[in-house]
Order: sequence, then C-alpha cells, then structure tokens
Amino acid sequence: MGCCIVGCGKGLPLLDVTNDELAELVDTSDEWISSRTGIRSRRISVEESSLDLAEVAARQALGWDGETPGFKDQPAFAPEDIDLVLFATLTPDALLPSSAALLRRRLGLTNAVAFDLNAACSGFVYSLTVAEALMVASQSGTNGSKGRNKYRHALVVGAERLSRITNWDDRNTCVLFGDGAGAVVVEWRDDAPGIISSYIHNDDDTTNSLVCPASFDSPFVFDDNGVNAALANDPAGILADASLDRIDQELGVAEGVAAGEPRQAIRMDGQKVFKFAGNALTNAVLEVLDRADLTLDDIALIVPHQANERIIKFAAKKLGLGLERFQISIAHRGNSSAACVPMTLSDAYDSGKISSGDKVIMVAFGAGLTSGAVLYEA
Ligand code: ACO
Repeated sequence: MGCCIVGCGKGLPLLDVTNDELAELVDTSDEWISSRTGIRSRRISVEESSLDLAEVAARQALGWDGETPGFKDQPAFAPEDIDLVLFATLTPDALLPSSAALLRRRLGLTNAVAFDLNAACSGFVYSLTVAEALMVASQSGTNGSKGRNKYRHALVVGAERLSRITNWDDRNTCVLFGDGAGAVVVEWRDDAPGIISSYIHNDDDTTNSLVCPASFDSPFVFDDNGVNAALANDPAGILADASLDRIDQELGVAEGVAAGEPRQAIRMDGQKVFKFAGNALTNAVLEVLDRADLTLDDIALIVPHQANERIIKFAAKKLGLGLERFQISIAHRGNSSAACVPMTLSDAYDSGKISSGDKVIMVAFGAGLTSGAVLYEA
C-alpha cells in the first residue's frame, strides 16, 4: 500500500525568450549562457499569473484536459475526490489568500484542505513528502478517538513566476530563470507501493548565498491612529533593531540596494550555490536509495531540479551514471524553482520514459538551504 502518482501535468506561459533576446538586455551571449548552463530559452509570464499556470497543470493532472500522458487507464478525478491541495511556490500572486486556497476555489475542490509551502526550489519535493506523511498518518489508528482528517487524494503543485523577482539588469541571475507550473495527483492505494522513501534536509545558508527580501516596508502593524506604538515607545531598543535596515543587513542586501538594484529581487552567489547543489543532489539520491534498501541499478530514471545542466552532469559523474538516466529539460525552460521537478516529471511521462513498475527518483535543492528527494514506483 502507498501513495501513488496517478496524474501529472504542466502549464507554461506563451512567451519564449531566447538567449539572443536576453543579450539585448544585458552584456551576455547565447554562447556563454548555453555553454555554462545548458539554457537556450525560457518561458516568461506576461499575461499569466502563477495561479493561471497552476490551473493548466492541475487540470491536466486531474485528467480534465483530454488524455493525461502516461496515465491512460486512469479515469478523470471528480472535484470532490481531492481532499488535500499543497501548493509549492516562492512567487504567490498574493500573500493572502494562499495560492492553494485560490486554486481550490478555481477548480471547485470543495472537500480539499489547501495550503502553500515555501522551500524554494525544493518546494515540490517537500510538498510531496508532506502530502505523503499526512496520507500515511490518516490511514493509521487514532486511539479510539475520531482522530484526524482522512486524505486519499492530494493535488501537489509547484508553480512560479520568477520573472517577477528577477533583476533584469543582473546578468549573473537573469539568464537562469523562467516561469511555469507542474502538478501531480497522488492517490492512496492498498495494492501498490507508490512512494517508497523520501528525504528532506536543511543546511544553514550562513553566507546568504541565495536571498530575496520581502517587499513589505514595515515590520510591525500600525494602531488605529497610524502610529506604530511599539516602535514609538522603544525607538532604539529590541523592536527597533528588527527594522528593515536590520533585515537587509541580515540578508546581506543593503549594499545592492544602495547601488540601485531593485530590493525585491533574487541575489545569488552562483559559485557557492553551485558547490552546495552538486553535493546536495548526490547526497539526496543516495539517502533515498539507502532508506529504500535499493541501489542505483534499481532506478529507471532520475528527475532532478533543473538549475544548471552542469550541476546535473556533476552529480551524474559522482554517482557513476550516464546522463541518459536523467530527465533533462533545462534547454527551453531554465530554472523555474518549485515548478521544475513536476514539469520535468511531466516531460518524462509525455515522452514515454516512465513505465508502470519503474522506480523513479525526484530530487531537488534550493535556497534555505533546502534539499530532498522522493523515490517512488510508477
Ligand atoms: N553572461 C556573460 N558573462 C557572465 C554572465 C552572463 N550571463 N554571468 C556571469 N558572467 C561572467 C562573470 O561576471 C564572470 O566574469 P569575471 O571572470 O570577469 O568576473 C565570469 O562570467 C564567470 O562567472 P562565474 O560565476 O565563475 O561563472 P560560473 O561558471 O560559475 O557560472 C552560474 C555561473 C551559471 C550562475 C553558476 O555558478 C550556477 O549555475 N550556480 C548555481 C545557480 C543555482 O543553482 N541556483 C539555484 C537556486 S535558484 C532559486 O532557488 C530560485
């Protein structure tokens, strides 16, 4: 018995931006970008919100959009079947309500508990792990009480509009990111293993190698007269210390802001993240294998986060695997954070690379620093 992936889909914005087009914005070239990252173009949302993209992906995963590739025997789900929606994003359209709540409303998932999760680029892997944990817990006994919510079907989404928090003057970052959404439906089944093992992990980002400050301008709410009473009574004390300047210092962004960079934009020390990423990816794969008592020989396909093709090559070499054992979809997408893994999984199903009974590993890393993997039987 276990938590099985029974639907998968993706949603992409219409606009495709090539490396040559980016070279008109910043001092870069198709040669530099494609040789250092494997990226040739990326989709950018102009009209579409994160929610619009998520809706397209979710409809496909639910079987509401014609045939769902790779899941031909799976009938479409009814809206009331879905009892859990987990939405991984770092670029929600709004802070309130959550993207999950908005998606629930759009799709009419009236029985679903819905909430967002932010673990940066690992958000989808974290969300799938949380969904599985809730589903497993809901099957277990409850000491005779009425216990906890029951979950049999979860919709797990990763959706991003990273273009909204990209500094389009910064060639170190703006060439890397794209927008998009991916989704899976997971079902609790009594006759199939589904997710066999999972691993999620945090390291401290002690050097602030990957940050994006929030856009709010005040750390505290104001009273009825518009006065921040707490700060007024404690101008130099502990509360004042939690000021915007202090937050900028903590995140190491004050210098960039002073130099005219937009405040709410991704700032990254690429080389530090690169080093972390290669090892985190490898380690997460080995951890889920160990937890499942399996070896790399048992794995049909690895579906990694798509930040840089060179990171995937580094991990492949360390694991002693050929690149054909990885699904690589970075060339026309770039890095779309939490949306990467489910979109890449959807590509693998679309191209017939995953058959029933195959064992597959999804693996990701990101800001936080977060990393993790999920090993499942298709
Ligand atoms: N075009 C041309 N030149 C560039 C560009 C560009 N787009 N970007 C940087 N350069 C220059 C640099 O300025 C530098 O020039 P210098 O030597 O004169 O100073 C030179 O190229 C080399 O720069 P490096 O940073 O050493 O380049 P590197 O080979 O490390 O590649 C990259 C940079 C692609 C960012 C790489 O470090 C990387 O992929 N890091 C990981 C990023 C990542 O995984 N992020 C994931 C998380 S994202 C999230 O969570 C939302």
